[in-house]
Amino acid sequence: MAEIPKTLRCFREEHSGEKLKDDDVLTVTSVEQKTVELNVEEAYEAFRIDRSMLQPALQREKHFQYLKKGLRHLSESYSCLDASRPWLCYWILHSLELLGEPIDDCMASDICQFLSRCQSPNGGFAGGPGQEPHLAPTYAAVNALCIIGTEDAYNVINREKLLEFLYSVKQPNGSFTMHVSGEVDVRSAYCAASVASLTNIITPTLFEGTPEWVLRCQNWEGGIGGVPGMEAHGGYTFCGMAAMVIFKKEWMLDLKALLGEVEAQQPRWRWVTSRQMRFEGGFQGRCNKLVDGCYSFWQAGLLPLLHRALHAHGNDSLSMTRWMFHQEALQEYILLCCQNSTGGLLDKPGKSRDFYHTCYCLSGLSVAQHFGGGELLHEIIVGDTNNRLEPIHPVYNISPEKVAQAVMHFHKLPVPQMKNNSN
Ligand code: FPP
Ligand code: ZN
Repeated sequence: MAEIPKTLRCFREEHSGEKLKDDDVLTVTSVEQKTVELNVEEAYEAFRIDRSMLQPALQREKHFQYLKKGLRHLSESYSCLDASRPWLCYWILHSLELLGEPIDDCMASDICQFLSRCQSPNGGFAGGPGQEPHLAPTYAAVNALCIIGTEDAYNVINREKLLEFLYSVKQPNGSFTMHVSGEVDVRSAYCAASVASLTNIITPTLFEGTPEWVLRCQNWEGGIGGVPGMEAHGGYTFCGMAAMVIFKKEWMLDLKALLGEVEAQQPRWRWVTSRQMRFEGGFQGRCNKLVDGCYSFWQAGLLPLLHRALHAHGNDSLSMTRWMFHQEALQEYILLCCQNSTGGLLDKPGKSRDFYHTCYCLSGLSVAQHFGGGELLHEIIVGDTNNRLEPIHPVYNISPEKVAQAVMHFHKLPVPQMKNNSN
């Protein structure tokens, strides 16, 4: 009889008793959680009894075909993302770079032209041609152009106008709105910090007060909420931490509370480490919510940032000698529960595939394969080496080489001067 892969057997034996214990009290939340556990168990069981597959396998070719088609044609169901078109470029381009699949020059040039049509005359990028500029598609467009990484791609970005746009959404308390007169939340601080650092437009005043504002978003749970006082959530926590890393102010956060350190006799709130689901293996976004493949990046992607920050601040006992999350369990969740059999990845069994989940499941899979430091520097690949993805830069979530190349390119150019602004 064929051997069950060691990591999977290990995961099942250790964790099958870790399902929700509801003490026979049914709530909407507990019923939903039990349904998800059942679906996940079915997916793991299907793998265990399918003797044609000895190892969990990444369906590389199917994902590649799905992504390639999406660059030229989207189904009607994507019309709701008409204000997120640069995101679609980024999600697909980043997924392709993770799979090690280059795009041809003609496609690259078409994407550059399309993104230049999304750029606003007032600076920044909009969700589509003729729409208002917004920090989220601006982040996606700059990342997409850096992934393409040609002179033509870099030249699409009007850095002077981008800086003007960033100042137009900067608030006196250090926060940023997502667009002019829009909502404030910690995503905007990250999007602004990401594009400004990649394109070398950071002035002495642009992020004045921003680290202090982000710090106010870390709450009693240890994680970071959208705005001060709000519930901690993986998406916002990644944004807050990555922004602080860009500002080189990550030490201002309570890093131990964010990680979830447990001190002898004195348990503290365990934030991110407790967001990995004991049975499913994937991550939830916030306490008492369901596993979702996209948090494979928003939560697990936080851990390389935390690892480096703790190491830099002398906490080697926390960062160097212990695993921060169960890397095999996360890979098993992504490979066995989040792949659509015809290509593309998804939130959880039973959900449809989409480009957002394809991008963030693959990004999380890459983090789980390459994460580590010190004694933990080796790769951990569940399944065949054919499952190996390219590594990511944990701050920008594009390839580390593309970050280095963009930084080198834009650092040859002077930081633009703002007219009528004492920057
Ligand atoms: C909750 O959705 C989701 C949020 C409150 C926001 C999530 C934020 C991100 C994913 C970060 C975005 C990053 C950038 C760079 C723009 P939900 O209630 O449907 O999901 P849940 O039940 O899993 O919490
Ligand atoms: Zn999701």
